Amino acid sequence: MKKQMRVKFLNLLVVCLVLSQAEAAEKVIKLPLPKYKSDTSVEEAIFKRRSIRRYKEETLGFQEVSQLLWAAGGKTIDGVTGATRAYPSAGGIYPLEIYLVVGNVKGISPGVYHYSWHDHTLSLKKEGDLRQELTAASLNQRMVLEAPVSLVFAAVYSRTTLRYGRRGELRYVPMDVGGAGQNVHLQAESLGLGTVIIGAFSDRAVKEVLELKDEEPLYIMPVGRPR
Ligand SMILES: Cc1cc2nc3c(=O)[nH]c(=O)nc-3n(C[C@H](O)[C@H](O)[C@H](O)COP(=O)(O)O)c2cc1C
Repeated sequence: MKKQMRVKFLNLLVVCLVLSQAEAAEKVIKLPLPKYKSDTSVEEAIFKRRSIRRYKEETLGFQEVSQLLWAAGGKTIDGVTGATRAYPSAGGIYPLEIYLVVGNVKGISPGVYHYSWHDHTLSLKKEGDLRQELTAASLNQRMVLEAPVSLVFAAVYSRTTLRYGRRGELRYVPMDVGGAGQNVHLQAESLGLGTVIIGAFSDRAVKEVLELKDEEPLYIMPVGRPR
């Protein structure tokens, strides 16, 4: 009898494991490959870039989101060291984690997603349209509510401070996010989209919305079609 119970329990455990693995697999979204060429020169993008704070009520495409995330911190190959990242990072440490708060994107249901640069995928962290909550956390800066998506850069400071101490905290991590944010600005410009860096927000509230534990939010970048 005891043995039967044990077998039943083990079977149940296997079923649960398989189901949870299937569920996790379902919530990983493979993004289309980014494009490495466009009709906009880097000079033109730099020249035209502006902070854009009003967006049309229009859906963003899957390819556009893929491109923005790649520019934010996706994989690049330099032919010498192999895989590296789209933005420069002190010591090649890359303390930034990138999140996508989705409101209105074709093919991606509303929610909070984590971007995995290695395999260019999004993993669902929290379901539902959280733009209202993120706007409130951003001191009611309404571009967050209007934008179909927002990219959020958060830093794991310890990655950098372990090697560089206080200099890593005061200088290198903020410098890293500057480069990544500018990439998103220029990529948005090249795609005919608009964005703005938001640095004024409640750290605690943003962490709550995104359920961040050991990461500190640094930039929120809403992206949409300029009005
Ligand atoms: C670190 C940082 C934080 C910023 N925070 C905000 C913000 O909270 N809200 C906002 O509307 N713009 C914010 N901005 C955008 C600036 O206001 C904007 O870059 C500046 O006015 C220059 O305009 P431009 O980007 O169009 O050249 C921020 C920019 C940076 C670099």
